[in-house]
Amino acid sequence: MEVVKTLRELRSWRADCRLRGENVGFVPTMGALHEGHGALVVQSAKENPRTVVSIFVNPTQFGPNEDLARYPRTLEADLKLCRERGANLIFVPEVETLYPEAADTWVDVGMVGNYWCGASRPGHFRGVSTVVTKLFLMVEPNKAYFGQKDAQQATLLCKMVRDLRFDLEMVICPTIRESDGLAMSSRNRYLSEAHRSKATALIRALEFGVDLFQKGETNASVLEVSMRAKVSELAPEASIDYLGFADSFNFQPLAVIKRPCTVLGAIRLGKTRLIDNIPLGGS
Ligand code: PAJ
Repeated sequence: MEVVKTLRELRSWRADCRLRGENVGFVPTMGALHEGHGALVVQSAKENPRTVVSIFVNPTQFGPNEDLARYPRTLEADLKLCRERGANLIFVPEVETLYPEAADTWVDVGMVGNYWCGASRPGHFRGVSTVVTKLFLMVEPNKAYFGQKDAQQATLLCKMVRDLRFDLEMVICPTIRESDGLAMSSRNRYLSEAHRSKATALIRALEFGVDLFQKGETNASVLEVSMRAKVSELAPEASIDYLGFADSFNFQPLAVIKRPCTVLGAIRLGKTRLIDNIPLGGS
C-alpha cells in the first residue's frame, strides 16, 4: 500500500492503473476510521483491482462554530485499517492541494441539501459537494463508495454525479452499527461514558417511528411528536436537531408518509452531534 500527499504522485499512480487496464474504486473519508469506513474499503477492494482511500478533513464543510479544530486525527491507525481492508493507495492531501490560495469555485447541488442537515449546518453540503467534485477530478474513479449512514449526503452526491455527468458509478453501502445499534461514527469517540449509554436514543426513536408508520400512521407531525417523545424519554438531556420523514429521491420533508422514504434524525448529547436514518424502500 502506498501513501501519497501530492497530486503529481496520485496522477502518475492513476495513469499506471489506466495503462494496465485496472479499474479504480474510491472511498473518500475524513479519517478517524472505524468499521463503517472499513466496510466501504472492503466492498471496493472486492469490486475493483485497485482501491484509493482519501483522508482529508475538509475545512469547507464545517461551520464556524463546529468541530474542525478538534476533529479526531488518527493517521497511523487509519493507515493500518486501510492496509488490512485491502486498500492500495492512500491519498492524504494538504489543504492547499484541494484549495489553492484564493480558491473560490463551488459546486452547489440545490434542493436535496436544503432541509435537515442542510438547514442546521448552512454551507455544509456546498463544502461536501465541492470537495468530492475535486477529489473525483483528481482520482478519476470508476466506482465511488459512500455510506447510507449519511443518507442525505449520499443522495445529494448521486444527484451531483448525474447532473454533472461524471463517468463513474456510485455505490451506497449499508450503515455499520455497534452491537447495541448505535451507528458507527468518528464523532462517537467524543461521547462521555454517560452520553454513550444514551446515544442509542436516536436509533430507538427512529425505529419507533417506523413501527408506528407500519401500524398505519402516515401523518408526519404525529410521527415527529412521537419520535421526539421517545428521545426525551430515553435521553432527557439530548437536544433534538431534527426528526422526520424524507422522500428518498429528493430528501424533501413529507407531510403524509409514503414509500420510498427515509426516516432520519439528528440529536446532540453535550457537544456531540449524532445523525442516523432508516431507509424504507418501495412499498
Ligand atoms: P466521513 O464522515 O469520514 O465518512 C466517509 C464515508 O464513510 C461516508 O461515505 C460515510 O457515509 C461513510 N460512513 C461513515 N460512518 C459509516 C457507518 N457507520 N456505516 C457505513 N458507512 C459509514 O462523509 C464524509 O467523511 C465527508 O463528508 C466526505 C464525503 C469524505 C467529504 O469530505
